[in-house]
Amino acid sequence: MRNIDRLYVATGFGWLIFSAGFGTWLGASGHFNFAQSHAHIGLLGFVASVLFGVIHRAWPELRERVLSSVQFAVYEIGTITLLTGKIMVDATGEPNLFLMVGAPIVILGALLFLWLFLASPATKRAPEMVPAE
Ligand code: HEM
Repeated sequence: MRNIDRLYVATGFGWLIFSAGFGTWLGASGHFNFAQSHAHIGLLGFVASVLFGVIHRAWPELRERVLSSVQFAVYEIGTITLLTGKIMVDATGEPNLFLMVGAPIVILGALLFLWLFLASPATKRAPEMVPAE
């Protein structure tokens, strides 16, 4: 997918807004038992998604592969599932199915990105023209 870099960065900023709103709520209401969920939303959602988007921008050959769309779907679905489970763990103290299913999907998403990165042949880029001063 050609614009997957923008899609990833935009998704990451969606996670940032959610994480920041969640952090504001938990701090204001004193629900500090949700602090780890808030941190996971920021790190798995915002930081990792924006990083994937920036890597797609820096290595454009990755975007040409169909696997890039599959990896995006796997990673983001896994993150939504895992974070749902994490919020439930912080609320109840009990493990749950969302966490157990989401965790391996997130790991699979990370492995797919590593595969995409290592197995995509580098394309030749045209030399940049720099205007003389
Ligand atoms: C408006 C933005 C944010 C607000 C209001 C906010 C608020 C908070 C609050 C109230 C806590 C709990 C502090 C405590 O336990 O005493 C916290 C913890 C934390 N936040 Fe945020 N936060 C914001 C953004 C972020 C972002 C963007 C990230 C990561 C990318 C982040 C990562 C963390 C981490 C790692 C912790 C520690 C969690 C723990 O102790 O288990 N925060 N934040």
